[in-house]
Amino acid sequence: MQKKIEHVIAPLLLIAGIAVSAFTAFWLYEMEKKSLIISFQREVDLRATSLHWDLTLNFKALRDLGIFFEKSSVPDHDEFRALAREIMKHLPHIDALEWIPRITSDNKAEQLEIIKEHYPDFEITQRQDQGIMVPASTKEEYFPVYFVEPYKGHEIALGFDLSSDTTRWKTLKTARDTGQPQVSASITLVQEKGKQKAFLAVAPVFRGTSETIAERRKNLTGFVLGIYRASDLFKASKVTGQASDIHMIMVDNTDGNAEKLGENFSEIEHEHNEHHEQPLYYAKDLPPLLGRLWSVTSHPTRHYIADNISPLPYVVFLFGVLFSTMITICAGMLIKRNHIINQKVSEQTRDLIEAQAARTDFQNKLIEMNKMASLGEMSAGIGHELSQPLGTILLKCQMLPKALNQRDYDKSLKFAEDIRNQAMRAKEIMDSLRIISRDAKPEDKTSIELNQVIRKAEVLIKEDLTMNGIQLAKELSPDIYIYASPVQLGQVVANLLTNARDALKESDEKRITIRSYKKDGNGILEIEDTGSGIPEQYQSKIFEPFFTSKPVGKGTGLGLSMCYSMVQDNEGEITFTTSAGQGTCFTVTFPLTRS
Ligand SMILES: Nc1ncnc2c1ncn2[C@@H]1O[C@H](COP(=O)(O)OP(=O)(O)OP(=O)(O)O)[C@@H](O)[C@H]1O
Ligand SMILES: [Mg+2]
Repeated sequence: MQKKIEHVIAPLLLIAGIAVSAFTAFWLYEMEKKSLIISFQREVDLRATSLHWDLTLNFKALRDLGIFFEKSSVPDHDEFRALAREIMKHLPHIDALEWIPRITSDNKAEQLEIIKEHYPDFEITQRQDQGIMVPASTKEEYFPVYFVEPYKGHEIALGFDLSSDTTRWKTLKTARDTGQPQVSASITLVQEKGKQKAFLAVAPVFRGTSETIAERRKNLTGFVLGIYRASDLFKASKVTGQASDIHMIMVDNTDGNAEKLGENFSEIEHEHNEHHEQPLYYAKDLPPLLGRLWSVTSHPTRHYIADNISPLPYVVFLFGVLFSTMITICAGMLIKRNHIINQKVSEQTRDLIEAQAARTDFQNKLIEMNKMASLGEMSAGIGHELSQPLGTILLKCQMLPKALNQRDYDKSLKFAEDIRNQAMRAKEIMDSLRIISRDAKPEDKTSIELNQVIRKAEVLIKEDLTMNGIQLAKELSPDIYIYASPVQLGQVVANLLTNARDALKESDEKRITIRSYKKDGNGILEIEDTGSGIPEQYQSKIFEPFFTSKPVGKGTGLGLSMCYSMVQDNEGEITFTTSAGQGTCFTVTFPLTRS
């Protein structure tokens, strides 16, 4: 499970890192885009306002020219030309300025005579379907182009009767009847060689004051007319002229069919700059102008977007991905290291457990050996101890049949009793032996009389002590009941006695005193010897397992450590006092039980 988690952590970190980077980058990109849209729309608003202002100035100039015609009763060709040139110098977007006189069937001949003084070939014309100019058909009223400035390039327009064309005539009629300048819908100029659209701005000129439509129709002398090629006008506009970074289209919405008038991009520019990012499309309506409802639609070029959007989101994303990759690599390395360490730790733990098990096994073997060694040491004494009752039993068994044959029943009874007593003695010795050699178990614990245990241990070692010339003294108080395992307590006494025996080897006075008494609610056992005493440097170590001062092969060093843990198992305490050359006294204390 742990391993599985470790395996998925690194990829998860990478995925999370990339996801967070992508989200942050996307959020930044959206913010940038929002601010781009706002600044783009502001820019378009500014440019549209500027365009509107330009157009207003243009139409005002046209009106001023109209006022001049109202004042001079007979328009003069040269004066018109000078004035028109002056206007066009300041307003370069005007393609041409024209004077369109009203020629009625009544004054047609007279008017044409005057006109032909300047233009001998002048003829009122109209346009046929294929764009061919032909003489105008006979009508009540004509509105032919008369003065054109500049003349060059517009020669074909001279004499063209504007009332012969529906769109143009509609504009003229509205201007005449309202007395207000008007702008036409999109038209194609008769002098147009390309595909550009144009529109006309006309200002009506009246003789005297005209209040009603009827008066206006009667007093109309003609129209001052300005020609505007929409795209040129758009491009020449102060702000949009410099703005090659935003594609702007001028649209006429007056008739509700959103007719494209012109744009600020040429076709070549289109190829380089085209950008169709729909969310950034923006349309701005211009205020109504001389009867027309125009608007400007726009979208930014790639160039504009590149200039106005920062590369921050991409940088953030790139940096985020790099950072996540680094973190993932570091995490991977850490996890791998951790894994190796864990593996080592578990290997070492396993080795330790195995070593501990081997040690415990070894210790158990040593303990067993210690027990066997003690028994071995005692076996001579035990053998002697057993031989005495067994010898007596043998002897009495031989004597018993004789006494029976002699019908000496008293003697026979005495022999039988002796045999029984000696057998009991042998059994007692074997019982003691069993206590020492058995494995102690916790369930062995019971209420025991301390002196009983002492006596059993004594039986086993007594002969050994006698053989070593050691005198054993006992100062035992009766009825000391403690709660302990007789087996373990027996082993403790036997160990302490063998240690005392060993300590007495070099001593002149060889005596061991076993004491038992009660003190402060405790049952106390003391084994004191008149031996060598324990040297000071050993005193802190004697209860440690395997500590021995005896020659190799003689002692295991486990005796006292076993005593220590067995006494502790039985809620007791073991201490000692010693003095060099004087001897040692081991004291074992157990809480008393009632009986
Ligand atoms: N009564 C004593 N007098 C002097 N030294 C003692 C006495 N009892 C124990 N010692 C010292 O304590 C050491 C440890 O005793 P312990 O019973 O644990 O091991 P051992 O007797 O050396 O070996 P083993 O018990 O296996 O025969 C002894 O080697 C000895 O130096
Ligand atoms: Mg010992």
